[in-house]
Amino acid sequence: MKFKKKILCIGAGYVGAPSMVMIACKCPDYKVTVVDINHQRIDAWNSDQLPVYEPGLDEIVKKTRGRNLFFSTDIDNQIKENDIIFVCVNTPTKTFGAGAGMAADLQYWEKTARQILENSQSSKIVIEKSTLPIKTALAMERILASAKGGISFDVLSNPEFMAEGTAIDDLENPDRVLIGSRETQSGLAARAQLVDIYARWVSPEKIITSNIWSAELSKLVANAFLAQRVSSINSISALCEKADADISEVARAVGMDSRIGSKFLKAGIGFGGSCFKKDILNLVYLCHFYGLPEVAAYWESVVKINEYQQERFIANILKSMFNTLAGKKICVLGFAFKADTGDTRESPAINITRMLVAEHAEVVISDPKALGNAAIDMAQDEGQISYVEDPYRASAHCHALVIMTDWDLYRRLDYRKIYKSMIKPAFIFDGRNIIDQQKCFEIGFNVFPIGKPALSRL
Ligand code: NAD
Ligand code: UGA
Repeated sequence: MKFKKKILCIGAGYVGAPSMVMIACKCPDYKVTVVDINHQRIDAWNSDQLPVYEPGLDEIVKKTRGRNLFFSTDIDNQIKENDIIFVCVNTPTKTFGAGAGMAADLQYWEKTARQILENSQSSKIVIEKSTLPIKTALAMERILASAKGGISFDVLSNPEFMAEGTAIDDLENPDRVLIGSRETQSGLAARAQLVDIYARWVSPEKIITSNIWSAELSKLVANAFLAQRVSSINSISALCEKADADISEVARAVGMDSRIGSKFLKAGIGFGGSCFKKDILNLVYLCHFYGLPEVAAYWESVVKINEYQQERFIANILKSMFNTLAGKKICVLGFAFKADTGDTRESPAINITRMLVAEHAEVVISDPKALGNAAIDMAQDEGQISYVEDPYRASAHCHALVIMTDWDLYRRLDYRKIYKSMIKPAFIFDGRNIIDQQKCFEIGFNVFPIGKPALSRL
């Protein structure tokens, strides 16, 4: 079949693959190829066991794979064959050298830029989809500018705003699609080509364009604002616990102000996920770089409150369980960083489990989708950790349940049955405020919510 356009995405991770799956689904006349250096990942994308759990993803992959969606490891040839290239490789926090612990590690991204340069035999549009520091497009342009043979490249910034667990819906019905470009004739023409792709299913008023630096920065700022809301409500949850207020009631009252809005005001154990912390630290680093220490300190406090929330939670467990966890069996319910994903990157459950193990507790981890990743995360940690998917088996003979992920499943468990199988006095630390706390208290549990008075007989 002759395709109208050929699109490549380098990086078949949580973002690259689902976003290309959506383009393939909405544009059956375009050929979409996703490549990665990780052969195992590509094999998994070509199998029935996709490497990413995301509601609704399997169905669309089944519909499009082999039709106009392809997964491959042949990066060099695919670069030659495609004229529109999305770059969606990982950009983690740097762990070495200058800026370690703050700046973005751009080594994967730069390798990709050089690979595009080496393998291109015609002019191309290169689109940054990874989240990158402001001015990265300039570095990309400089690398690509050394191309020979009359080849030229237009670099666009098209940051992705989807969230895990709701990726398919977010990609299908985005709040907005942002495309940044150079305001030159060829930059604007490249931008128009990308607008055309999204216009297949996104209404025109939701496709916004900007200068390239604004687009790069907007992505970091959007994540920083979202994380800031979570830290803001979590900071108030600490005050609620001291002053007998209820954080859910406060969040509802505050969120009903249409200027504030009700979303992202759920207090809990703190934000996780691969991006919030890394992107805020990147923003903090950029502020220092541009000589703005006060602005840097403001945003860094969002991360500090997140760490404080986890320390507070563990201190509360220790204090409530008579200041010793040694030899006690604790069931961690949920290991994913949020519901509806198997992703555990930066999950608060990792730190909490480590803190429990450091207190010599015996930990049983349960999760419907993330046990494989949990076992990888905890592989280097010494201590007694076991993995049991069934929450009823996992909680049997435990002293406490620690709810880490807001899986809907945990709202609906038979807590009476669980209570019977546990050691008494039995505790629940509801790190997500998702269970019927009053009912569990009536069953016999001592219940410790976030940002609300404890329901305890002790
Ligand atoms: P990921 O680690 O799941 O995927 C990145 C993929 O890139 C990996 O499979 C890796 O093997 C591949 N890769 C690295 N170097 C490569 C190279 N030189 N050639 C080919 N493939 C290469 O990461 P992710 O979660 O998909 O995130 C990717 C980017 O998108 C990051 O910048 C992230 O900040 C951003 N982002 C992530 C999310 C999210 O929800 N996870 C949302 C929006 C934006
Ligand atoms: C987030 C953003 O929501 C996306 O827009 C962005 O594209 C993405 O980061 C990214 O750049 O990676 P994601 O991390 O997948 O998406 O998930 P969120 O729904 O934002 O949740 C992040 C964390 O905050 C989770 O641990 C979640 O449990 C926590 N959270 C969220 C709360 O504790 N309370 C809330 O009210 C909302």
